Amino acid sequence: MNSKQVIQMENENILATYSRLPIVIKNGKGCMVYDPEGKSYLDFVAGIAVNLLGYGYQPLIQAIIEQAQELIHASNLYYTLPQTQLAKDLTQVSGFDRVFFNNSGAEANEIALKMARFYGRRKYGNRYKFITFSQSFHGRTFLTLTATAQEKFHHDLEPLVNGVSYAEFNRIESVMKVIDDETCGIIVEPIQGEGGIFCSDPSFLHQIREICNERDIILIFDEVQCGMGRTGKFFAFERYGVKPDIVTLAKGLGGGLPIGAVLVNEKIVSITRKGDQGSTFGGNPVCTKAAQVVVRTIAQDDFLKNVVESGEYLQQQLHQIQQKFRDLIQEIRGIGLMWGLQIPGKAKLIVEKMLEKGVIVNAANDDVVRLLPPLIVGKKEIDQMVHSLDEVLLDIQFTNKVAGLK
Ligand SMILES: Cc1ncc(COP(=O)(O)O)c(C=O)c1O
Repeated sequence: MNSKQVIQMENENILATYSRLPIVIKNGKGCMVYDPEGKSYLDFVAGIAVNLLGYGYQPLIQAIIEQAQELIHASNLYYTLPQTQLAKDLTQVSGFDRVFFNNSGAEANEIALKMARFYGRRKYGNRYKFITFSQSFHGRTFLTLTATAQEKFHHDLEPLVNGVSYAEFNRIESVMKVIDDETCGIIVEPIQGEGGIFCSDPSFLHQIREICNERDIILIFDEVQCGMGRTGKFFAFERYGVKPDIVTLAKGLGGGLPIGAVLVNEKIVSITRKGDQGSTFGGNPVCTKAAQVVVRTIAQDDFLKNVVESGEYLQQQLHQIQQKFRDLIQEIRGIGLMWGLQIPGKAKLIVEKMLEKGVIVNAANDDVVRLLPPLIVGKKEIDQMVHSLDEVLLDIQFTNKVAGLK
């Protein structure tokens, strides 16, 4: 089936909730993906921070095949080795005490918030409120959507879930304004992804940690997008030297298979009861076996060293581009292999023009071009992406000048 036929079939059968780009992705290798006609695209989005090891990574494929042959699913009514082994790998690499597995980022955050509320209710009786931050994104269940402090996601869904207050990202004074004796949890993305790539100030996270320690409030880091090696450390919290009570993972954890995880410390272990949470598919043998390959690969020093080096090179190249296009690029933000270019009103146009040149980038919104390449990306791919970006920005600059002359 060709691209046109796939798109037509989709339009006739899939509920239209996505504004998709007009390409069909059929297969991939390394940092490249291909459409049914064989046209190639360099992928700087990686399924939105999912395909960390790129496409067609043989050890991952092999592990999935072998596990599928042995056992695809067993209920959580029973014990299975892949799930248990992955939990052990994750507790070892993180220093957290226990893990709960589920299927997605939204679910991981929903469960993390529930655990914070269990803690607040069981230890203090009256604590049930959460604090979340401007520009955040935590998922699309009712609670995580409420926790997502971006109005555009709330339209036509009111009333939202009770007990969520919003503070300003990187402004500790605004936390102090909304915190009270009924607060049980604070959730924050160390680096905000969907909001447009905004990094926490280290002092901000340290201060939140102190406040949570003083008041015995559960601190949750949502590392669904910024975790799993993307910052050059396995966890973003390691970059900041601030450890939360709960960290959530999903996206890249399964290397492309759907899995989420909630990693918790002793505080949560101490109040957890049988029956608090469950999941039909959470910890599925195939997904956990795949995640094991991802976790063990990323945890290697050499792997993370490449993320740091490629990240630094990308940062340098982006700053050079910014020097050249000062009239267009207002700001460049990011860390490791997670970058945002603030280009007001032009992000979607740039995404379209880059696609025409065979490079996939993303618009976090109409003002921010977002780059989230596979973590195996190297200098060659970065040069190709930057070269195309340079051409696209030159075109836009020229069009602006001509428009100005008219
Ligand atoms: C930081 C963050 N949290 C949660 C989510 C939701 O994850 P999922 O789409 O797997 O539910 C996302 C998705 O973009 C995210 O970026």
